[in-house]
Amino acid sequence: MSSKIKYKISDIQNLKNSKTPFCTITVYDYASSLIINELNIPLVLVGDSASMVMFGYENTTRISVNELLFLTKAVSRGINRALIVADLPFMSYQPSNSLAVENAGRFIKEGRADAVKLEGGIEYIDRVENIVKAGIPVMGHIGLKPQSVLQESGYKIKGKTFESAKEIYRDAIALEKAGAFSVVLECVPVELADIITSKLKIPTIGIGAGAGCDGQIQVFHDLIGSFKKSSPKHAKKYLNIERSIAAAIENYIKDVRDRIFPNQSNYVTMHKNTLAELKKALENT
Ligand code: KIV
Repeated sequence: MSSKIKYKISDIQNLKNSKTPFCTITVYDYASSLIINELNIPLVLVGDSASMVMFGYENTTRISVNELLFLTKAVSRGINRALIVADLPFMSYQPSNSLAVENAGRFIKEGRADAVKLEGGIEYIDRVENIVKAGIPVMGHIGLKPQSVLQESGYKIKGKTFESAKEIYRDAIALEKAGAFSVVLECVPVELADIITSKLKIPTIGIGAGAGCDGQIQVFHDLIGSFKKSSPKHAKKYLNIERSIAAAIENYIKDVRDRIFPNQSNYVTMHKNTLAELKKALENT
């Protein structure tokens, strides 16, 4: 693994002052973590989008704490530079402050994450305050909140009306006041994202919120085109790895059928004397 210095919360906050936006990405497994660890990525998120892309559930309300913890442990074995943020799954923080602190603590102690993220503004501000008070850094997430998909009968874009924009603005200010170290703005109008970014002292990290945010976040599978089922408007496919994977596996199937694979370099052989001895010994069995 790369031995460069590990990013701390203060380093992420200082990125607010840099002239160029920073890039963050979701990650869910060890092999991908090793790749990301070599790149210029200051923060990774073990997102609850794992619910769909890793576990095949229909939305993010299904994934459990234990399932996401399992992935967080794998990621933290592969990342030693980026700050690791773990998502708090649906119902791991909503019921009470004490449950929120307890579950956030599991991601830090068992998952070896450096911070947690939760969805919500003013309605969950006491969760943020309590987790921060317990010594755990919190990233906020406002605008489109995927964990509200059941209640809102789908993924609803927020912030387009005056009232809704004011609400999101208030959420952002409240999160900063409550001690959040950064905030994700998901699918809010670019103008609102720019206003929030200029008002907050903490960095904003956008997804579908325009180029004016301090940083951007993307889902790993969206970037490399490895998830057949979704291609959201806010994502850009830099690769179509799904096609490459299918082509590679088709070549494997063909090689096996044509007895091209495995070949001499893929198997071990026996010394000819040992083989002769074995055959002899087995003659009358
Ligand atoms: O779970 C996730 O992938 C996220 C990002 C889209 C911000 O929350």
